[in-house]
Amino acid sequence: MAKKTFADFVILMDKFYLKKKLPNGKSISRENVSQYFAKEYKGEYANQKDQRKGLAEGGFRKLYTLWFRGIAPSIRIRPEIERPAKELRSINLIDDIDLGIPDGGTNFIAPYVITGAVKIGILADIHLPYHDLPVLKAAIKHLQKENIDVLLLNGDIFDFYKCSRYQQIPNKPSLKAELEMGRVFLRQLRQLFPTQKILFKDGNHENRLENYIINQAPALYGVESLTLSQLLEFNDLNIIHIKSHQLIQAGNLSILHGHEINAGGVNLARSIYMKVGCSALVAHNHKTSEVRFKTVQGNWHEVYTIGCLCDLYPDYAIFNQMNNGFAVVKVAADGGFKVDNLRVDGGVVVR
Ligand SMILES: [Fe+2]
Ligand SMILES: [Fe+2]
Repeated sequence: MAKKTFADFVILMDKFYLKKKLPNGKSISRENVSQYFAKEYKGEYANQKDQRKGLAEGGFRKLYTLWFRGIAPSIRIRPEIERPAKELRSINLIDDIDLGIPDGGTNFIAPYVITGAVKIGILADIHLPYHDLPVLKAAIKHLQKENIDVLLLNGDIFDFYKCSRYQQIPNKPSLKAELEMGRVFLRQLRQLFPTQKILFKDGNHENRLENYIINQAPALYGVESLTLSQLLEFNDLNIIHIKSHQLIQAGNLSILHGHEINAGGVNLARSIYMKVGCSALVAHNHKTSEVRFKTVQGNWHEVYTIGCLCDLYPDYAIFNQMNNGFAVVKVAADGGFKVDNLRVDGGVVVR
């Protein structure tokens, strides 16, 4: 029997919520749900102790507690769910009303989930070829010393200046030169982190490439050899490509590049929290900041924004509040996390 996932559980709960009955005919109670799942899992674990442990590790106990509190609908977008959103959406379709129209579909992309106890190094806003080399070296050296398990390149690794819709200075590096530099850099990263999982998340600057094709050469849209993953040889380098609007979930910490939520203002971390309502780590703003909020249940939510690894004096904003920085995130098996929100100042990594 295939191992059951959160998605299986949610689908089952959604189905039975409508009927108020479990498949074994019993009406739904916390105890019945527990018994039902214990039976479903029989044979999958060596003994009852392992079975209970497996259920607890799977988060089922917590999930059905939430379900009984009546907040199950929000669970449907929990990051543990790996099934396509459309499949989940269809479960709740009320089929005794005919509107005569098909479902409108969804842009929802299931989050990329980083599971287990891991140490993640996060670099973002390198903006090749406008990177700050000493700063970048200091950050990478630090991640090597930290023995990270996962390297997350969290958006705006490239600048794609020549694909920008803004005014361009003609003598800036060509797209060809930028891509070549990027390929060299990614190959080097793979050598420096030979066994680590490397994730490449698209930021708003990576989006420039596809936007350029859509606006300037739509006939080339969708040509496989012109996609970022082909141009940057992600397959050869064993780099996992995470799309622009895909959330990354590491334990209880949600990770975004930042363009997805369009937050700004004087208190950056706070305004991001107003958008996300959970613990989060965001790049994009090129500035280190953080804020903590305590919920009425006494749980802390933490939001971090991390600095950039590019030149602090871009020609579009010579005077600004940007700073160099990156992060190391330790995630525990139970989803707890600790963020080291590091700055690089004068070539030195500081907290
Ligand atoms: Fe950026
Ligand atoms: Fe950005």
